[in-house]
Amino acid sequence: MDFKVLTVDDLSSVMELENSVFVSDAWSSESMRSEIESPNNFYLGLFEDGLIGYAGLSTIPGSFSSDIQTIAVSSAARGRGIGRALMQELLRKAKAQGSEQVLLEVRIDNQVAISLYASLGFERIDVRKRYYQPDNVDAVIMRLRITQPLVLGIESTCDETGVGIVRGNRLLANALHSSMDEHSKYGGVVPEVAARAHLEAIAPTLNKALAEAGVQMKDIDAIAVANGPGLAGALMVGIGAAKGLALANDKPIYAVNHLIGHVGADVLERGYVQLPTIALLVSGGHTSLLLVRDLLGDAVLLGETIDDAAGEAFDKVARVLGLPYPGGPQIDKLAATGDPKAIRFPRGLSLPKDMEKHRYDFSFSGLKTAVARYVEKAEADGETINPADVAASFREAVVDVLLTKALNACAEFGVDRLLLGGGVVANARLREVAQQRCEAAGIELRIPRFSLCTDNGAMIASLGAQLVMSGHAPSSLGFGAESTLEVTVVQSP
Ligand code: KG4
Ligand code: ZN
Repeated sequence: MDFKVLTVDDLSSVMELENSVFVSDAWSSESMRSEIESPNNFYLGLFEDGLIGYAGLSTIPGSFSSDIQTIAVSSAARGRGIGRALMQELLRKAKAQGSEQVLLEVRIDNQVAISLYASLGFERIDVRKRYYQPDNVDAVIMRLRITQPLVLGIESTCDETGVGIVRGNRLLANALHSSMDEHSKYGGVVPEVAARAHLEAIAPTLNKALAEAGVQMKDIDAIAVANGPGLAGALMVGIGAAKGLALANDKPIYAVNHLIGHVGADVLERGYVQLPTIALLVSGGHTSLLLVRDLLGDAVLLGETIDDAAGEAFDKVARVLGLPYPGGPQIDKLAATGDPKAIRFPRGLSLPKDMEKHRYDFSFSGLKTAVARYVEKAEADGETINPADVAASFREAVVDVLLTKALNACAEFGVDRLLLGGGVVANARLREVAQQRCEAAGIELRIPRFSLCTDNGAMIASLGAQLVMSGHAPSSLGFGAESTLEVTVVQSP
């Protein structure tokens, strides 16, 4: 059956059927309009020379629970299984949204409907006396329980070995091992060192996650692993571990996109990701601006860095100022006492001529060089610099360019949401300016808690769970590490 998602344009057809099926009990046109318009609701209809059936589902975000709002089939079309098929579609939707139960109420004298719901797995949990007025008929409350999949996710794209476990949209464990300290003497992530560290950390981190979630490997329904973008050698360790676990335990495997994982992490925070959203992902490995309309099927990379990542720029400038790795937190601290207007450092790719070709791209290498020149020149001239002013002015330049481009994207694509992710969101000034500018522009700002912003296994598990809940088939074992995986590929086949 070819169902259509109903919109307010279908209101008159819906009301015609509503009035013919429910007569005295029918909803008013105004209530029906607000039902169909509500962003929490999902209405489906079946058309055959006019509307012959419809049904609606409501899911309050973060409640893990859905309600069947209504279902109606025209009297002429009964007995063809349309009601059952509509219900099955709504249940599919509830499952995909991460609901753990679906509730409905039905007239106690409607035995046909009650047995249909029972055959779909609904159980009677309560009766509301004289609920339906003016007929004075009781309502039976029925519930269907949904067991959402238990998914284990592995993340090894850069220097964090993460293993997370979720059940549907619920976070159960988020174990992490970082090899950041091992990179400190080199002033940046060394791919070979990261890969070796993943190898050592993967088994203990896996065990930690299982213990934290209180589950065993045999309980896991599916395994998800980030297969890109990231460092090839580092990715291979996580992928090897995931494939080994999948094979040894006979579990389906999902190879997922690390960047989309960052966007999806918000599900674990509040039960859903409000879409569409612009996402700004800033870490030591990436600086990406995304337009996401559908997490599992419609993400566009608007721009990215053409040289250093934002976090990398912090790390490199920290080195120029003689600060240890990772430089981000160090510069942030130092900048707190400096004057952000002391020095005007360049904003990469922000001149009119750059904006044509690189409207949403970033470049931090010129900024890094400008800071280095400034410090060198002062030394050569025998002047003492004020490191706090340099740090504050540099930080201001990074924050300004990141947020200017992100907010331009919001305005140009008519999206009133901005989601931040990646380790650089720890930056105090970035958070402050993001809040100010989003408030001024009427944009909703989302910054998931820090442990979900940085690279972690839970966001990978969560994206895997969303694929499972929506009925996507697993990946084949043939996938490999894709260091430059495109954001349009949410799952590798
Ligand atoms: O996402 P993340 O933890 O890991 C990877 O990139 O793999 O990000 C780490 C990056 C480092 O470059 C670090 O310097 C930067 O995030 N960072 C910061 C701050 N805290 C961490 N950058 C600016 N300000 C901070 N407070
Ligand atoms: Zn990342």
